[in-house]
Amino acid sequence: MRIDVITIFPDYLAPLGLSLIGKAREQGRLDVRVHDLREHTHDRHRTVDDTPYGGGAGMVLRPEPWGEAFDALLDDADASSAAAGPAPWLIVPSPSGVPFTQELAREFARLPWLVFACGRYEGIDERVYEYAATRMPVSVVSLGDYVLNGGEVAVLAIVEAVARLVPGVIGNADSLVEESHEDGLLEYPVYTKPATWRGLDVPAVLLSGHHGAIAAWRHEQRLARTRERRPDLMD
Ligand code: 6GU
Repeated sequence: MRIDVITIFPDYLAPLGLSLIGKAREQGRLDVRVHDLREHTHDRHRTVDDTPYGGGAGMVLRPEPWGEAFDALLDDADASSAAAGPAPWLIVPSPSGVPFTQELAREFARLPWLVFACGRYEGIDERVYEYAATRMPVSVVSLGDYVLNGGEVAVLAIVEAVARLVPGVIGNADSLVEESHEDGLLEYPVYTKPATWRGLDVPAVLLSGHHGAIAAWRHEQRLARTRERRPDLMD
């Protein structure tokens, strides 16, 4: 899978060089490229933002650098593929987006090429979305009902959720199946040695060796935990 990230803070994406994602990059399973939006400015101050038409607080990212950044990526696509190579899918993190879910992560994980556009300040000029949609599919996604300063941290979260579903990125594929949100329930609690720690015991059933009883207990725990923490998932 190829992943391009366009941002005015490339350093924010440094964690994409670490851990499983970093390893997958070294192994060639992920091709991650981070681009500085300011490379597509032409004034002395490399200006990417301006005041909003109609007034109001804050600054808005100007459309021109985005247009050039997209052109550079899509021209790259033309050059690197004979006729019909992989087509990019644009993801724009935004608190105004549709909720990012495990289901969306699974859909993104099937795509060959994701492009992320990181907004900052009050947002990106709306015409950027309109123009981008004439060149590639666009998804505007939100991590939840709170506001981050920009899209970079959201990209880290989305890339991590997506990349671990790409075949070969996670060593043990079994660890993907019994997880929170894979089947609509939260995960059951887990324990390891020692069996007693600071007066706290591991539930006896887990030491019993009765696989049926363990499975039943874990299912009960998932239901109880979901009812308690996420009643909205219980229908
Ligand atoms: Cl995806 N982006 C930003 N900037 N803020 C957010 C978010 C995304 N999700 C929740 N808050």
